Amino acid sequence: MTERLRTSLRAVQPGDVRALAAAEVECFEDPWPEAYFASELFAPGRFQRILVDPAGVLAAYLFTAWQYLDLHILKIATLPEHRRNGLGRRLMAVAEEHARAMAGETLTLEVRLTNTGAITLYESLGYERMGVRRGYYADNSDALVMTKRVCASG
Ligand SMILES: CC(C)(COP(=O)(O)OP(=O)(O)OC[C@H]1O[C@@H](n2cnc3c(N)ncnc32)[C@H](O)[C@@H]1OP(=O)(O)O)[C@@H](O)C(=O)NCCC(=O)NCCS
Repeated sequence: MTERLRTSLRAVQPGDVRALAAAEVECFEDPWPEAYFASELFAPGRFQRILVDPAGVLAAYLFTAWQYLDLHILKIATLPEHRRNGLGRRLMAVAEEHARAMAGETLTLEVRLTNTGAITLYESLGYERMGVRRGYYADNSDALVMTKRVCASG
């Protein structure tokens, strides 16, 4: 674990897109291109937040999309040098707070079956394994679908 990093939470701005695309290459095998981040920024029903260090440099990011009463976690990542510092957990809490505040019923995500670190994080937060989507990723690998219910009556 790196030393504790003080970060601030804020909304994503168009000027962040380049840094997001650069971070994405470090974080994912199938990175979103810069243009995709830009299109997500202004798409309807979206909720996005980033954590930045005291110098304003990107440390972690969260992209979500509403699908009816489900808040879908499209993307969550922490820059490699800041992992195991609680940033991923914090962003997942931010997503859940948003889902509750908007009277959402569930949060859902897909994660590679091989991504045991992320699965550990989600299970620790109460996400349940709902099933497997075969060949979900561009390289044809499978995704585990995980959901957390946040509304008792839903
Ligand atoms: C998954 C990811 C977002 C976690 O971010 P993070 O900031 O390191 O997560 P946190 O520090 O909040 O971790 C919280 C808990 O999750 C679990 N966890 C996180 N990464 C883990 C790992 N590599 N191995 C085992 N457990 C892990 C641990 O229980 C951890 O608590 P601990 O550090 O007290 O043991 C980060 O590893 C990442 O960006 N990975 C690449 C992108 C990715 O896979 N995103 C998810 C796609 S679905």
